[in-house]
Amino acid sequence: MRARRGLREEAVLTDSLKHGRTLSSKELGRIICSIKKSSNFWRIVELSRQPLPVVAEVLSSLIDKGYLRVDDGRVLFSKDLSGLDLQDTVDFDESRCRGCNGRGLDMDRYSDLLKRFREIAKARPSALREFDQGFVSEETTIARVALMHRWADIKGKEIVLIGDDDLLSIGLWLTGMPERIVVLEIDERLTSFIRDVTGGTVEVRGYDVRRPLPEDLVGAFDVFFTDPTESLEGFKVFALRGMLSLRGDGAGYFGLTRVEASLNKWYEIQGFLHQCGFVITDIIDEFNHYQDWDYYQDTRAYSIAPVKIEPIPYWYKSSQIRIERVIERDLDNSEVTGLIYFDEESSTV
Ligand SMILES: [Fe+2]
Repeated sequence: MRARRGLREEAVLTDSLKHGRTLSSKELGRIICSIKKSSNFWRIVELSRQPLPVVAEVLSSLIDKGYLRVDDGRVLFSKDLSGLDLQDTVDFDESRCRGCNGRGLDMDRYSDLLKRFREIAKARPSALREFDQGFVSEETTIARVALMHRWADIKGKEIVLIGDDDLLSIGLWLTGMPERIVVLEIDERLTSFIRDVTGGTVEVRGYDVRRPLPEDLVGAFDVFFTDPTESLEGFKVFALRGMLSLRGDGAGYFGLTRVEASLNKWYEIQGFLHQCGFVITDIIDEFNHYQDWDYYQDTRAYSIAPVKIEPIPYWYKSSQIRIERVIERDLDNSEVTGLIYFDEESSTV
């Protein structure tokens, strides 16, 4: 095992972090290694697999101390880091199956569906900051359909989507297999778009996730899908509404990033799911690829980025998680007040 040298130097680099905790050697090494692999800030965040505010702060600190410089929007080393004994402590290789983009799904079977979906999605409404929207690539939406079908979660099923700026309801509707699809969505541009496209076959209801799940929807579905906001409080509200919507041994799907959720938050979330009577059946790394937000210049991510450049396509990814109920537990359906879209790890609102 490699001796951990240079810890004092790491402290010099990280003790000025405002984030309230020191980084481990592994975390800092991962960031340094990411800078070696890319000079693009957004790509460095993606490769670092840590909350964006942490990565931004480490980069700013390294720039202040003269280890890095910014040249024409690129992050470059300005002096050798060998004095810090950091450079060889971490290395990784971004190896990924090019056939399936690492999702483990044969998407050739879904090429017709993807084509039809792309045609429809051309006329979709743009993402709104107000609702923390930022939709996934069309390929991602259809990969979600493929994943759900692999789990027998589509044919003959009653499915509820809590928020649907990704238009998954339309992808599911195109298969002709679900028994019922209900979309709960706060954004009227989306509700009318989905209603128009599907001729009312998909039931669309205006719904604010802060309100209790309507009684007629509690225990009424086999499957829920949601792409929650990632503040811990916000996440729990979305997940609770989803879990409440399920009957018996129903299953749920949601995304979770590393960009806006530290592993401490992952720990809290996994414990919460357990407490609610669920197990995790799937965590598929970097499954969901998000398109750029039109409003990126207004985000916290952009304001704290040490380099002001336009985000690269799909730098923001999330794991796709699937859960299934194994134990019935009482779940809270009360109203929440106040803004739930933001915590210290958030950056895309
Ligand atoms: Fe593959």
